[in-house]
Amino acid sequence: MTKLASREIEQLDPYKFMAVIGKRVIHPGGRASTEALLRRAAITASTRVLDVGCGVGTTAVEIARRHGAHVTAVDIAPLMLERAAANVGDAGLAHLVPVEPGDILDLRFDDASFDVVIAEAVTMFVDRTRAAAELARVAAPGGRVLATEFFWRRPPTPEAKEIFLGQVCPGLEFDTIEDWVRLYESAGLSALETETGPFEMMTTKGFLADEGLARCLGIMGRVAVRPAHVRKMAWLMPRMARAVPYLGYIVVAGTKPK
Ligand SMILES: C[S@@+](CC[C@H](N)C(=O)[O-])C[C@H]1O[C@@H](n2cnc3c(N)ncnc32)[C@H](O)[C@@H]1O
Repeated sequence: MTKLASREIEQLDPYKFMAVIGKRVIHPGGRASTEALLRRAAITASTRVLDVGCGVGTTAVEIARRHGAHVTAVDIAPLMLERAAANVGDAGLAHLVPVEPGDILDLRFDDASFDVVIAEAVTMFVDRTRAAAELARVAAPGGRVLATEFFWRRPPTPEAKEIFLGQVCPGLEFDTIEDWVRLYESAGLSALETETGPFEMMTTKGFLADEGLARCLGIMGRVAVRPAHVRKMAWLMPRMARAVPYLGYIVVAGTKPK
């Protein structure tokens, strides 16, 4: 795995930093929101699945392992792709989960190529109208598009908002439940369903639930052995703690009309 210089670690966004220290589940609702999403995806062994912004490949691996389905996993970041490919290989699933570079704003796939299209915590980082349109475009008629996004569960204090959107995730934008539903409806999807829950990925409880005790200990070990990791964690965690009480996840699921 590529070893980053201290300066590069300092500049990583929180999600890439989580990948570097070995976290596997890197989206606001953790495994709980992935389960909420998969319950609405109705995947079987013959379902053609696309996971856009796949991160380190955790959901793609889970789908292939659980259902034996073919899952194309794409991400824009070389750092994520390297880890996703390694994790897919370690799981012995390279024959079912091709990992390749791809941009949610300009996917290389033909229209209607997939039965299920997933984007967990990706649309909110980019031009959301274009991203939602691309996800819908590559879904087959009757196919499902499923996304996980952030939203404010309760109005944040100005301080919490500034810390999260100004310091922790600059450039990130997110909306209300209604705005997310409107976005995916405008992309041409119908029968929109949503499920919401708290942002627990970075709480002790959520971290343990998502990664398990052994992996948590491994992550703590990887943080402890590099001063650059310790500094990054020491910067990140108090800021996350200020924003967490106001943050939630929303899973949005829609169908491409036939
Ligand atoms: C919050 S992480 C989520 C990763 C993964 N989906 C998960 O849930 O663990 C956001 C991911 O989106 C990827 N990403 C950001 N912009 C993207 C784009 N334009 N096209 C594809 N992936 C993108 C990032 O590299 C990162 O892996």
